[in-house]
Amino acid sequence: MITCYDYSSARAVADSNIDCILVGDSLAMTMHGYSNTLSATTAMMALHTAAVAKGAPGKFIIGDLPFLSYRKGLKEAMDAVHELMSAGANAVKLEGVRGHADIVRHIVDSGVPVMGHLGLTPQSVHGLGGMKVQARTNAAVKVLTSEARELEDAGCFALVLECVPRQGARRVTDLLRIPTIGIGAGTHVSGQVLVYQDVLGLNPGFKPKFLRVYANTFEVITTALNAYDGDVKSGAFPSESESYSDLESTNGKGAKRTEHAGKNGRASRITLASDMNH
Ligand code: KIV
Repeated sequence: MITCYDYSSARAVADSNIDCILVGDSLAMTMHGYSNTLSATTAMMALHTAAVAKGAPGKFIIGDLPFLSYRKGLKEAMDAVHELMSAGANAVKLEGVRGHADIVRHIVDSGVPVMGHLGLTPQSVHGLGGMKVQARTNAAVKVLTSEARELEDAGCFALVLECVPRQGARRVTDLLRIPTIGIGAGTHVSGQVLVYQDVLGLNPGFKPKFLRVYANTFEVITTALNAYDGDVKSGAFPSESESYSDLESTNGKGAKRTEHAGKNGRASRITLASDMNH
């Protein structure tokens, strides 16, 4: 699984072998520049989910329920679920279980698959005292396994385990029948998830222990932008072949454009689109 938040990135994921997409509330940070996920709203999540669904219609898309959206009561939770599912999600994800197992059950009973999320739950960053590795003691692993079981019993189809030592992740994975998806949880899980920007090196300076960066895209982009800037300033771009020529000298193409011209003399969008290559 990989996170994804926008249409053009979703097209790239759609072309990959990755099984499913999480439109995570981490978009508050990666796409909107906030310092944590608490600023994500249901409206933001729905907008990004809709864009991803258009770019990757064939992938299984999980929409993240944002901060407090499932803690204000059943109606509010179901309204948020409704928005994400209407935007194109195939399932929703929520963090923790204490105090909202009934809501998880209700969402599942409504026909909406729910993914759980335990370990480091970023929506509780202030309660946890920061973004820290969780379940480092036997007692904490006991709580983790019991909460994992509770989520499975409530009907979750899968469980994200974030930033927990691999021994604890293994214990949870061995205990459950549903798959576990790890991020910073070692290898003894059923699958992995990483953030798109992190995998592609778009978040320079972010180097947690669990991350493997697969491309230096930030550098690729700045190099390309500087090449473009240099070409414009030196006059090397655009060249003649990258410029349109006069209508009369286009070998009939200009005439075609006139044929398709609308009432007000402007070419139709379709004609323009096909003309744009010549
Ligand atoms: O919001 C998110 O991106 C997530 C993943 C890190 C699991 O919850």
